[in-house]
Amino acid sequence: MVKFGGSSVSSLPNWQSIAAIVRAHRERGCPVLIVHSAVTGVTDQLERLLELAILDDHSTAFTALEARHRQLLTELGLPDCSEFEAQWQQLAQVIAGVARVRAASDATRARIMGFGELLATAIGVRFLQSVGLQASWLDARTVLQAEPRANASQRAHYLSASCAYGADPVLRERLQRHGELLITQGFIASDAAGATVLLGRGGSDTSAAYLAAKLSAERLEIWTDVPGMFSANPRTTPGARQLRQLTYDEAQEIATAGAKVLHPRCILPARQAAVPLWVLATPAPQQGGTRLSHLPGSDAAQVKAVCVKKGITLISMDSPGMWHQVGFLADAFGIFKQLGLSVDLVSTSETNVTVSLDPQANTLDSTIVAELVDALAPLCRARAIGPCASISLVGRNIRAIIHQLGDALAVFEEQRIYLVSQAANDLNFTFVVDESQCDRLVNELHDLLVRPVRADDVFGPTWEQLFAGDTGNQPLRAPWWVRRRAALLEKLGSRQSAYVYDLQTIRERARELRAMRSVKRVFYAMKANWHPDVLRTLYGEKISIECVSRGEVEHARQALPGLPVDALLFTPNFAPRAEYQWALEQGLRVTVDNVHILREWAGLLGGREIFLRVDPGTGRGHHQHVRTGGAYSKFGIPMEALPTACALAAAAGVRVVGLHAHVGSGVMNPASWIATGQALVAALEHFPEARVIDLGGGLGVPDRAGKPSLDLAALDRELAALAPAVGDRELWLEPGRFLVAEAGVLLARVTQLKSKDDVHYVGVSTGMNSLIRPALYGAHHDIHNLSRWGEPETQTASIVGPICETGDFLGHDRQLSVCAEGDVLLVATAGAYGAVMSSRYNLRLPAEELVLESD
Ligand code: LLP
Repeated sequence: MVKFGGSSVSSLPNWQSIAAIVRAHRERGCPVLIVHSAVTGVTDQLERLLELAILDDHSTAFTALEARHRQLLTELGLPDCSEFEAQWQQLAQVIAGVARVRAASDATRARIMGFGELLATAIGVRFLQSVGLQASWLDARTVLQAEPRANASQRAHYLSASCAYGADPVLRERLQRHGELLITQGFIASDAAGATVLLGRGGSDTSAAYLAAKLSAERLEIWTDVPGMFSANPRTTPGARQLRQLTYDEAQEIATAGAKVLHPRCILPARQAAVPLWVLATPAPQQGGTRLSHLPGSDAAQVKAVCVKKGITLISMDSPGMWHQVGFLADAFGIFKQLGLSVDLVSTSETNVTVSLDPQANTLDSTIVAELVDALAPLCRARAIGPCASISLVGRNIRAIIHQLGDALAVFEEQRIYLVSQAANDLNFTFVVDESQCDRLVNELHDLLVRPVRADDVFGPTWEQLFAGDTGNQPLRAPWWVRRRAALLEKLGSRQSAYVYDLQTIRERARELRAMRSVKRVFYAMKANWHPDVLRTLYGEKISIECVSRGEVEHARQALPGLPVDALLFTPNFAPRAEYQWALEQGLRVTVDNVHILREWAGLLGGREIFLRVDPGTGRGHHQHVRTGGAYSKFGIPMEALPTACALAAAAGVRVVGLHAHVGSGVMNPASWIATGQALVAALEHFPEARVIDLGGGLGVPDRAGKPSLDLAALDRELAALAPAVGDRELWLEPGRFLVAEAGVLLARVTQLKSKDDVHYVGVSTGMNSLIRPALYGAHHDIHNLSRWGEPETQTASIVGPICETGDFLGHDRQLSVCAEGDVLLVATAGAYGAVMSSRYNLRLPAEELVLESD
């Protein structure tokens, strides 16, 4: 039993693929029943055609629909197709009838919409015959009968029917009689009177599942345009992994929680008849797919997918009186029922009940929501919250892994969670948050929780690995090191390991930042990488330098003799008094981030101009350790202490000429700097003399191929909106990572290989002593075998260094091409916070630093 979706039946290459798939089954001796959809877009076209026919204004739409099909016939090399002509004549007659009476009943609507599948299968059967497959055409309406439903409206009867799917020996016998190869339509069935009825949304998948159940088929294959179900939506999470096997109930949960590839309705018939269901890609059969069955891949508790549903409205109902009160829920839910609203998630406390309304199950407009809130008013204080999104972690025994969710929950730190719900079937754990945040949160949760385990038979390759970087949205910018592979290997020479920096990439990033119109000056936070050539390159691009210690200032001056003090910004934290004294004597621009300094060292500061570092109260960034806002971070002066700071500065005769804030590192959302800017603008009330607003650094870079970059253009645009409040003051930025991270790679040779049970290790010559970020933050760095670049990455292994700690790893469970001793592995995005954080732990010297000049 094989089913093909609309895009699968819309082009010659896909039809050739269908023929090959069917032929392979036939050669194995399997009878095949093919179900397929209308050509892509045709169902919508038919709907429009119908509306226009009612106005008797349909001739253009009619011609367009015909052209669409004739174009496909030509592409498939079928100029004369009598089966198609017969269906087309019938459609023309029905449409002419509608135009005559200027009306269409639900029955007529169903009849017209059903023509998409009738036309497409008429073409399909002819194509298969033309390539030598003895296929026969079956009218699905003679096999699938709608079940009578008590109380169903006319509309539901014709447009969203459901069918019985008990074993059907007659169908089996028909398949045998027609040479074991039949082709039929999805989406349509008939009622007791023989009229055409539709199966509603996802109808073709459902038809296929009904027919598979009727035949007790050996398997049901649903062929679509992606190779199976994925652990997240690959369009927004390119690291999403193919799911190789799921139980029916897990798949149901994933499909219901928002994944679009399979309609949730089609799972039940397959499950009841115990037909294994496969989801596969017509354009890429070799990539395999997902198998759904009763058998769990393993019983281990594991998050298998992170799913999102957008457009959710929450209704929060507060009432102090509800505690221990009988019938509150019954009364409240009665009102939802009256208004025909179906509730999805529910969470309760002593004084509040919050429920979610799913847009797939409800037609939600502001009128109905307002009506609901009014109707609930006598019972409680009701409030609508939205638009929200639900993020569901789906997998078996989800309760058993709640303790592992600790790190994952940290990503919600800056995010309001409106509702948490844990499904009674122990298969999902759902959070409801603001819709605007959900894509970012999904990516972070996915990174943390979707991890292949030993001998994994659930997680397959990632979307990136399957499509070599095609995110489906835009072509990727290949990293520089692909182009410069030979130069890199030559630079490494006979060394065991080295950091290599590409100065050209640094220049490009500098120019991107300097092109921002709303930012007057850019300071490079040299803590990210203080290699002298890096400093010289950036200074050459008119970028100034931000230092955090006397050591950094002296190092910068050594690399750039004659560096003027104006090109430096000194931003220490909890440094001793003597260091401030030294900096002020040098005439450096000093940032003060503690009132202690203003109060206790007033004599030192008297008469000086300084910057103040403000803590806007919220930290952001890729890890807890790098978020620098709020009471638990040691940086900056909190907003509420600004009046004190103002009074102390005045008393000491200090002029505050700049306001500064840096809320964290590795931030991808432009809104962060806008929020910082707004906080600093508010602080101007106390320090009107400030001429500079320094928004800090923190500009993130994608940590893996395929992830989107920070949208600098959007940041520039949004910063420009601050202009009225900023006036003639200057906006500054002080990024570190953004300028250098992508320009650096760490190269390390393979030393030894090891396998323990099914866990494979690739040892390399340097580890956490050179790059501590994976051990310290769980940071991800893409890793590839540079010596064997281009070979398929088929081996799953952990890449470990020679340091005596289990935490000494560069990457866990990565896909690599098969490695041999001496191969050179490349660790990407290592130009920032790599060499500068290295150590001599174990008395193993870290990788030396080398520089690659322009090609
Ligand atoms: N300005 C100040 C005051 C900072 O403290 C920092 C970084 C920056 C600017 C530059 O931030 P960037 O643009 O590089 O994100 N070791 C961590 C990062 C620590 C960042 C410390 N402060 C990591 O490897 O991710």
